[in-house]
Amino acid sequence: MDLSKMRILFLTHAFNSLTQRLYVELRALGHEVSVEFDINDAVALEAVDLHRPDLIIAPFLKRAIPESIWRHHVCLVVHPGIEGDRGPSSLDWAILKGERRWGVTVLQANGEMDAGDIWASVAFEMRDTSKGSLYRNQVTEAAVAAVSLAVERFQTGDYRPQPQNQVDATHPGGWQPLVKQTDRAIDWQADTTAMVLRKIRSGDGVPGVLDELFGRQFYLYDAWPESHLKGRPGESVARCGAAICRATVDGAVWIGHLREREGEHPFKLPATQLLTQELADLPQIEADAASGYREIWYEEVEGVGLLHFPFYNGAMGSDQCEALLSALRDAKRRDTQAILLMGGPDYWSNGMHLNMIEAASSAADESWRNINAMDDLAREIIQTESHLTVAVLQGNAGAGGVFLARAADEVWARRGVILNPHYKDMGNLFGSEYWTYLLPRYSGDERAARIVENRLPMGVDEAQALNLVDRVIDASGADVVHQARQLATSMIRTPAFAERLHYKNARRQADEAVKPLASYREEELEQMKRNFYGFDPSYHVARYNFVYKVAKSRTPLTLANHRWSKAIRRVS
Ligand code: COA
Repeated sequence: MDLSKMRILFLTHAFNSLTQRLYVELRALGHEVSVEFDINDAVALEAVDLHRPDLIIAPFLKRAIPESIWRHHVCLVVHPGIEGDRGPSSLDWAILKGERRWGVTVLQANGEMDAGDIWASVAFEMRDTSKGSLYRNQVTEAAVAAVSLAVERFQTGDYRPQPQNQVDATHPGGWQPLVKQTDRAIDWQADTTAMVLRKIRSGDGVPGVLDELFGRQFYLYDAWPESHLKGRPGESVARCGAAICRATVDGAVWIGHLREREGEHPFKLPATQLLTQELADLPQIEADAASGYREIWYEEVEGVGLLHFPFYNGAMGSDQCEALLSALRDAKRRDTQAILLMGGPDYWSNGMHLNMIEAASSAADESWRNINAMDDLAREIIQTESHLTVAVLQGNAGAGGVFLARAADEVWARRGVILNPHYKDMGNLFGSEYWTYLLPRYSGDERAARIVENRLPMGVDEAQALNLVDRVIDASGADVVHQARQLATSMIRTPAFAERLHYKNARRQADEAVKPLASYREEELEQMKRNFYGFDPSYHVARYNFVYKVAKSRTPLTLANHRWSKAIRRVS
C-alpha cells in the first residue's frame, strides 16, 4: 500500500479551529482529507464506507468512536492532555490545578475512553489565559506537531505505538472526570484574584462558571485582573466599557462577557449590556495601561502606530466598529508613517457581532447598522493616504474580518493563522466590506470567484499565493508583535518608502476613477438588504443556529468530499 499520499477521514464533532488547521496542514502534505461530522454511528459508518480511508483522525470528538469502525481501521484521537491523562475535561483541570506544563497526545481509539496506545505526544508551557485561548494557540500548535508525527509513524508501517501502561507511573494524569459547576464555583469570600481567574478561565469558551450577580444567574467569561480597584469581596465596584469589576479578597477582576442561565438571551453578550439597569449607579472608569478593561488601545514606536483591538471572539459590534473607527482617525492624525492594525492575540476579526445582532429588538436593523459600521471602518482603511496601513494577523480571521484586513495596504500573518475568506456559510450572506473591490484587485477575478465558492479555510501559504496575505511572520505569542514592529520600523526607513506611499495613492485614485468605492458598497449593500429584509430567511436561520449552537444535522458537501459521488448519483 502506498501511504505517501493517504486517504484520511476526519471524524469530528465540528469543523472547529483546530480541525480546520489540521485539515489545512494535512492537505498541504498532499493527503486526500474528507470530513464527516460525528452525528451518529450509522452516519459515521457510511462515511467510512464511502471514503475508504487509510487512516481516520478524530481532532475534536465528544463521544466514543463506534467499535465497528475502530476494530477495522486505525483511528487516531487528538487528546488535549499529556501522556497518561484521560477524561473529557483535560484542559479545564490543567488550568484549575495550575499545571505549568501540559500537552497534546495522539491516541489510538479502542474500547475505553482515552486509554488507547500512544502514537505521539507533544508538550507545551501553559500560559495564564483562558481555555479557549490555550486551545487556539498552544494546543493547536502541539496538535499539529503530534498529528504530523503520528501520521509519519503510521506511514512507516512498522511503528509500534506505546501502550498506556508503559507510561511513567510518576507522571501526573490518569483518569479525570468531567469538571462540574461545583468544581469551579467561585467562593467570593475566600478565593484570591488568581483563583477566581483560574476558575473562570478554566470554563471559557464553554461552559462558563455559573455565578450570581444582582440576584440573577449568569455564566461568567472573559476575566482579567484589575490592579488598583478594591472593595468588599464579591461586590461589583465599577464598570468600564463592556465589563464590570468585582472585588475579590485581595483585589478585583474584570468580567467582560456573561451568558444568562435562563431568560431572553441565553448566549454570550457584553456584561454591561445584560445588566443595564443594575449598573446605573456603578462608577464608570476609563481604561488605561494599568487599570480597567481595554478593548482598544494605541501605542507608538519610532514612527509606527500600533492599534490593538482584541475583541472577545473577534466579533465586532456596531459600537465597537465605531470606536475603532474613531481610534483609527486619531492614529492617522499622529506624526507617524505606518499604522499596524493588530487585532488581538486570538483573533484578528470574525466580522459582524452575530450575538449582538441576535439580541437586538430588530435583528435586520442591527445587521444593517453593523455592516454599515464595518464598511465605514473598511473605507477609512482603504482611503488612508497619510500612512501605510498593515493588518497584522496574530490570530485567525473569518468572513468580513478577512476582507477588513485586506482593506489595509499589506496583510502580515503569523504562521499557523487560518483564514475563512467567505460569507456564504452564514445562510448565503452576500457580504460587504468592499470585498467585491478588494478580492478581484488582489487575487484576480478567477481566483476571487473560486475563493468565494470553495467556502474552505486556508492557511497562510495558500493565502499568500492568492495575495490575501503579503508576508508570513514565523513567530508566536508576543514575538509576533515584536517582529511586526521591527519590520514596520525598518520599512518606513527605506528610501523607497515615500515612493511607496505615492504609488499606493495613485493606484487608489486610478481605481476610484474606474469605479468609485461608493458604487461597490452600494451594490454589496443592495444584496445584503435582501439577506436582511428579503423573503428568504436563510441568513436569520443560520445566525440563530450559530448563536444558539444548534448542532449540525449533516456535514456540508464542501467538506464531505466522499459524499460527492453519492450526491451526483442522486441527481443523475
Ligand atoms: N459573532 C459572534 N460570535 C462569534 C463570531 C461572530 N461573528 N464569530 C465567532 N464567534 C464566537 C463563536 O460563537 C464561538 O463562541 P464560544 O466562545 O461561545 O464557543 C467563538 O467565537 C469561537 O468561534 P468558533 O466558531 O468556535 O471558532 P472557530 O475558530 O472554530 O471558527 C469561524 C471560526 C470564523 C469559521 C466561525 O467562528 C464563523 O463562522 N464565524 C462567523 C463569521 C460570520 O459569518 N460573520 C458574520 C459575517 S461578517
